Amino acid sequence: MDDRIISANELENDEDGSLRPQKLSEYIGQAKVKEMLDIYIKAAKKREEALDHILLYGPPGLGKTTLAQIIANEMNVNIKTTSGPMIERGGDLAAILTQLNPGDVLFIDEIHRLPRFVEEILYSAMEDYVLDIIIGKDSNARSIRVDLPPFTLIGATTRYGDLSAPLRARFGVVERLEYYNKAELTKIIERTASVYNNKISKDAAIELASRSRGTPRIANRLFRRIRDFAEVLSDGDITLDITKNALGKLNIDGNGLDYTDKCYLKAIIESFNGGPVGLESISATIGEEITTVEDVYEPYLLQEGYIKRTPRGRVATEKAYDLLNIKYYKGLF
Ligand code: ADE
Repeated sequence: MDDRIISANELENDEDGSLRPQKLSEYIGQAKVKEMLDIYIKAAKKREEALDHILLYGPPGLGKTTLAQIIANEMNVNIKTTSGPMIERGGDLAAILTQLNPGDVLFIDEIHRLPRFVEEILYSAMEDYVLDIIIGKDSNARSIRVDLPPFTLIGATTRYGDLSAPLRARFGVVERLEYYNKAELTKIIERTASVYNNKISKDAAIELASRSRGTPRIANRLFRRIRDFAEVLSDGDITLDITKNALGKLNIDGNGLDYTDKCYLKAIIESFNGGPVGLESISATIGEEITTVEDVYEPYLLQEGYIKRTPRGRVATEKAYDLLNIKYYKGLF
């Protein structure tokens, strides 16, 4: 699914570390999260202790990895980065944990995808900074205890609800990242332009911001494509005209909704009479994975009021009908 330009998938998009702010003060948006983290970081530094474990959750592309790196930076410690699916055995986790220095950050992306038995090893590591590992098999099996340095686990997930209760309970700080508003995204785009040494007009930055699905990763990805247009078709300066032209060619409409968003809404309206309809049926109709629909597409469509979730399933709102130019007659009958 993720070769589309508007996908929020991290994989092919994060080659560019230069765009990531290094300090909390350079990080735009998420004001509430920033305010809290600033206090926790200062307090931990004052006490010369490791920062408490932090769980960051929310839709993809909003800056969870960036925040983890900033936290490590502000604490003046190293960060080791891994992800849930990469840790397949207890030994993988032990190898990482035993190499940490006191105070270091271990960042586990997609932490909801950790195998359950690995997760169970994490409990004592997080709580008491010890590892209980079983070595040997059957009658030879014995458990050894390894002391760990105090460390900070930062977990990131798009699926807060998929975390087990015991794991959730071991995070002292739990913060949810929100979609960015237009003003914040405009600032991020202007910052990106200056990092890349491109000129962008204010109206062009606002236009791109309003078509980026509230998501910096998408804004930055679209920025790079628009910059290509500006450099090839003009003198490199990014104007409103060039922006509109490029976004039009990329099929990004005025709301930032992409082809799949529209397929999703069309499916509810045309195949299921506007809903209510279950997630599984919609996913099957549009040929996307259920988790992708739930984690990537629905959160934004919900926030923007194109759909509603009811106990009986998803329902398209009048706004969705308007968007697709389909006459809204729900409620009249
Ligand atoms: N680049 C991506 N996300 C950002 C943010 N929240 N602040 C500044 N630059 C960013």
